[in-house]
Amino acid sequence: MNYEEARKKMADIGQEHVFKYYDELTEEQKSALIRQVEETDFSVLKRIDKGAGDERGAFAPLAAMQRPEIIAREKELHDAGVAAIKAGKTAALLLAGGMGTRLGSDDPKGMYNIGLTKPVYIFERIITNLLDVVKETDTWIRLFIMTSEKNHDATVKFLKEKNFFGYREDRIVFFRQDMAPACDFDGKLYMEAKDRISTSPNGNAGWYSSMVRAGLDRILTDEGIEWIDIFAVDNVLQRICDPCFVGATILADVSVGAKVVRKAAPDEKVGVMCLEDGRPSIVEYYELSEEMMNAKDANGDPAYNYGVILNYLFRTSELAAVTDDRMPLHVVKKKIPHIDENGELVKPSEPNGFKFEQLVLDMIHQLATCLPYEVIREKEFAPIKNPTGIDSVESARELLKLNGVEL
Ligand code: UTP
Repeated sequence: MNYEEARKKMADIGQEHVFKYYDELTEEQKSALIRQVEETDFSVLKRIDKGAGDERGAFAPLAAMQRPEIIAREKELHDAGVAAIKAGKTAALLLAGGMGTRLGSDDPKGMYNIGLTKPVYIFERIITNLLDVVKETDTWIRLFIMTSEKNHDATVKFLKEKNFFGYREDRIVFFRQDMAPACDFDGKLYMEAKDRISTSPNGNAGWYSSMVRAGLDRILTDEGIEWIDIFAVDNVLQRICDPCFVGATILADVSVGAKVVRKAAPDEKVGVMCLEDGRPSIVEYYELSEEMMNAKDANGDPAYNYGVILNYLFRTSELAAVTDDRMPLHVVKKKIPHIDENGELVKPSEPNGFKFEQLVLDMIHQLATCLPYEVIREKEFAPIKNPTGIDSVESARELLKLNGVEL
């Protein structure tokens, strides 16, 4: 694409201002901006008014595999999981492409030090947990790490410096997720520099399409990986590829296994697993009707009782059928750093525009079947979203201490 073509592309969608500083740029910066215009999908901007994903189908309960069953079948589930892991059929994928804006650190979230008397990094906690399974099964599980162009270099440099916290480097594959443009509340694109349109990672469902674009789905096929455990960077207690979860998902013969925790209270603000028009889905807390809130299962327990924790084991052979076009695009209000009319960088303290994201939970809804698998909240769920308060560094530290982790 040349300058005239790039200019026309942006003029056609009313975004010519991205070339405001063009004449001041070096040749290299000019080419970079034209390349960004060429490569970016701006069609997302049309979605601002649509409120995508708002139309919902008919909800019905989806039974979870609960602790009593897991305990009764522990050996059977564990053996099936260990066999699959030892046969190299499972991989893990760390979602580390997010911006972690709520935590407020400029570094990638995984670099955050949550230690008190010694350094304990978020990445370290996650890798240590995965290493437990590596040791138990004597198998180096393939670990994919998804970054974004914003945090890739810092993430790789940090993990190299820390010697991957003991993980075998040749079993790790990094890839960058795709980016989406960001705009103000009127749909006008922000510029993050004179030569660059503001972009942000395209949501945590970006992992599969980004992986395919990077040609990495070949590794899944070549290595015979049948299951991939996708997990968030910020839950410092989570178990990854733990044999019972792997075994339960395989034996249930489902498209995906989802770790869930029992709701702390009927009105707790978490999305819960359910069926929507007969397919697995997640109903948000504010979508639960009075009737759904009071519905009971066969044991007399609440029928919509299990919240998701962003840890899913996907059957890889079904992923190719999951397509971006069928997934809703979430238009989210966020704080977007940008340059002002004087070309100065502004870091807003309040949301000032929209980002566009696709979410993993919408991938689940494209699959035929799902096993919600109950884990104990206090043992496996310590998310770090904020510096203090709910789901914070403070609350995670308390939970880590309860689980005997030295900080
Ligand atoms: P969150 O939804 O908490 O978003 O991500 P975030 O970007 O980390 O944090 P905030 O909202 O800006 O404070 C849940 C998980 O999904 C990953 C994150 O890295 C985290 O592991 N994620 C999120 C991605 O990998 N890519 C994205 O585009 C968004």
